[in-house]
Amino acid sequence: MEIRRATEADFVAMWTIFHAVVATGDTYVFSAATSREDAHVYWLGPDITTYVAEENKSIVGFYKLISNRRDLGSHVANASFMVDPAVSGKGVGKAMGKHCLTEAKKAGYLAIQFNFVVSTNKGAVALWKKLGFAIVGTLPQAFRHQQLGYVDAFVMHRFLDDIVI
Ligand SMILES: CC(C)(COP(=O)(O)OP(=O)(O)OC[C@H]1O[C@@H](n2cnc3c(N)ncnc32)[C@H](O)[C@@H]1OP(=O)(O)O)[C@@H](O)C(=O)NCCC(=O)NCCS
Repeated sequence: MEIRRATEADFVAMWTIFHAVVATGDTYVFSAATSREDAHVYWLGPDITTYVAEENKSIVGFYKLISNRRDLGSHVANASFMVDPAVSGKGVGKAMGKHCLTEAKKAGYLAIQFNFVVSTNKGAVALWKKLGFAIVGTLPQAFRHQQLGYVDAFVMHRFLDDIVI
């Protein structure tokens, strides 16, 4: 599997995966009706660094790495991840997560913060903990889960001082 910078040509495959991920309404705040244009701005808009994971010439996942806040908060990164549901549980998320830590360190960030990890998203919470993130805050009933109703969301954080580049 290769992880590389996303190009405009990748968006066809990214859109299919995006649509499959948001359709279930259990991991992201995006509605299933999110437009292609909105998704494009989110993933490939200006000042956004996005990577795709490619296997056998197919896009199997992608992530974006941005500053969590502007100006005086810009030393902390933020990232978003999506893996093709057809290949979930096969290590794509973990490979992209590790890649993200290295890229964030290379870019000079001090830490990475995930602002909104749905508490019932067991796979994501387990993966981020495995990669060294800690839950530093709980936002009560912040997510309207399509099956479960209101559930908590976690803020997860990790310093990057131990990442070797
Ligand atoms: C969350 C997501 C990125 C994980 O990617 P993935 O490719 O499915 O996960 P991986 O196969 O790399 O698994 C990573 C680790 O998490 C663990 N894990 C995965 N699902 C798990 C679950 N339900 N419970 C416990 N652990 C789990 C795996 O055991 C694995 O650890 P290991 O390699 O030490 O065995 C992916 O499922 C996804 O895109 N989900 C939808 C969107 C989303 O939730 N994005 C993240 C929002 S914060």
